[in-house]
Amino acid sequence: MDIIEAIEKRISCRAFEQRPLDAETYQALADEVARINEESGLRFQLYGPREDGTAIDMAPNMFAGNPPCYAALVGPVGPEPEEQLGYYGERLVLFATQLGLGTCWVASTYDQATTRAEIGEGEKLHDVVPIGYAPAKMPLRQRTIRTGIRARDKKLAAMWKGPTPLGDAPEWIQACISAVHKGPSAINEQPVVFVQDADGAPVRATVPEVRRGLEYTDMGIAKLHFEIVARECGMPGTWEWGDDGAFVVD
Ligand SMILES: Cc1cc2nc3c(=O)[nH]c(=O)nc-3n(C[C@H](O)[C@H](O)[C@H](O)COP(=O)(O)O)c2cc1C
Repeated sequence: MDIIEAIEKRISCRAFEQRPLDAETYQALADEVARINEESGLRFQLYGPREDGTAIDMAPNMFAGNPPCYAALVGPVGPEPEEQLGYYGERLVLFATQLGLGTCWVASTYDQATTRAEIGEGEKLHDVVPIGYAPAKMPLRQRTIRTGIRARDKKLAAMWKGPTPLGDAPEWIQACISAVHKGPSAINEQPVVFVQDADGAPVRATVPEVRRGLEYTDMGIAKLHFEIVARECGMPGTWEWGDDGAFVVD
């Protein structure tokens, strides 16, 4: 599966088959975590099964059972490290999706007493990402939960503030914003707005309203989706970190 397909296919997976990851798959994830930590300075950690075969207890009102593996997303506190945690955490999520695995970003609906994570001074366990094989058929309750949350989807046009309406913006920008719209965000808030002051000016990403504090993580996720699709559209570039940071085309 290529990374564009991974963006298309990824959903928040809230049920897992009761079987461990095969050793090769687990190792591939561990290698990606090591690369991310090396590149970012964050301290993501991967944990495998406990004695009962599962890795962590998820909140039963949201999840049908527990996964055989999870990533602990540990890093410093503050807008910029949280944005980076979003960017790199989503890189791990898309990598796992490409390996055929199900994942979910989880900030709150898990039992913290069952987490294993090394947390240094000034650091926090921001989110966990349960990882495992999705069942062939998602249980009805988990499907209903997702449909219910996604029913609150923002309109694509609300994620764009440019010199023309989104429908008249360059095709690559429309494709990038559509990829962001498909991505995960805490309680599906989709808080990021892409701004362009004039035709041809750099696109900037901003979060106009910070309510829960998870918006910076959401912004990092959004920036990664935008960047991946921009590259695919022949507009490779990199983001400046921070609110109002610009997408600098190479
Ligand atoms: C930072 C962050 C935190 C999240 N926390 C939770 C959570 O605690 N529990 C949960 O069930 N889903 C959580 N989600 C998943 C979102 O609800 C989900 O991404 C959103 O509703 C969009 O649905 P989708 O990912 O299936 O497309 C979180 C997502 C993000 C990005």
